[in-house]
Amino acid sequence: MNVLEIDGLTVRLEGSVGARPVLSDVSLHVAGGEVVGLVGESGSGKSVTCRTALGAVPRGASVDGAVRTVGEDVFGLPARELRRLRSEKVGFVPQDPRAAVNPLYRVGDYVIEALRAAGVPKAEAPDRATALLESVGIPEPRRALRRWPHEFSGGMLQRVVIAAALAGSPRLLVADEPTTALDVTIQAEVLSLLLDITAERGAGLLLVTHDLELAAAVCDRAYVMYAGRIVESEPAASLFASPKHPYTAGLLRATPSLTGPVERLTAVPGRPLGLDEVLPGCSFAPRCAHARPVCDDGPPPLLEDGAGAVACVRAGELAPELRRRAHEEQAV
Ligand SMILES: Nc1ncnc2c1ncn2[C@@H]1O[C@H](COP(=O)(O)OP(=O)(O)OP(=O)(O)O)[C@@H](O)[C@H]1O
Ligand SMILES: [Mg+2]
Repeated sequence: MNVLEIDGLTVRLEGSVGARPVLSDVSLHVAGGEVVGLVGESGSGKSVTCRTALGAVPRGASVDGAVRTVGEDVFGLPARELRRLRSEKVGFVPQDPRAAVNPLYRVGDYVIEALRAAGVPKAEAPDRATALLESVGIPEPRRALRRWPHEFSGGMLQRVVIAAALAGSPRLLVADEPTTALDVTIQAEVLSLLLDITAERGAGLLLVTHDLELAAAVCDRAYVMYAGRIVESEPAASLFASPKHPYTAGLLRATPSLTGPVERLTAVPGRPLGLDEVLPGCSFAPRCAHARPVCDDGPPPLLEDGAGAVACVRAGELAPELRRRAHEEQAV
């Protein structure tokens, strides 16, 4: 069963008449037990997509399309039901734990508040909070309840935030760049914790990351986003072996490899499209070495292609070249 289904979602910000929407016709899904990556440059719309899974859109935004989270139509739910869905069925892990936790409250208060919101009786909450902190690897969990956020390292605080995200019985975890604020060794620990939890509970995980290599390593499937659109979706393994969209291929060339020499990295040329810029055709065309006049004829539809989908009118003719270059990169 899908624990997240986003179908044809377009989100346009208030006052941005004429400008491009923040999200355009985004469709994606996450099944129970599945780890799904959402990859793209800064500003491509990843966080807005994540928040729609919780039924939240920027204030005043107009919304088209549907989002079903754990079977519920989030835009049609009364506020109380939506709060219940968020606290009981969905776990949200934000990018920066320090921004998520109130520094004026003890760590225990943060976790207990999440438990209370998920319907745990007051008398049981401290024991449950202790057990949750223990389950995410916090040492001396009972004492940790009385400590302050500033006494925790970034990695430990991210574990606290993950514990709070597990306060209900989440069927869906949404992790918005959960390890970006952490140093590399801690990143790996926090990530494997998230993956273990997902596997143990049979939950689905939507994992947002800038890091294509990480997505390919830990995800079952991944979506690549550019300027508010999904431009490619693939089983994670074939993202590296045979990228189908020139943007994905560009991201791969910009991804540092643990084995390749550093000077082989090539940034994707140009800069991401601003929200106030509207192009007649493909948003990536101005940065794409393969662009032709046909690319300006209209936004390219996302078409099924093998086990994935790609939004590039030249995808078919470019496939052999993109695949060959990906193999050359991997071979180094
Ligand atoms: N509440 C808001 N009001 C106005 N603009 C917004 C709001 N939320 C997002 N945006 C704009 O929508 C676009 C997409 O933002 P989003 O935060 O989803 O990007 P992202 O892919 O998560 O980027 P990053 O990798 O930097 O986190 C950006 O141009 C951003 O400035
Ligand atoms: Mg973001």
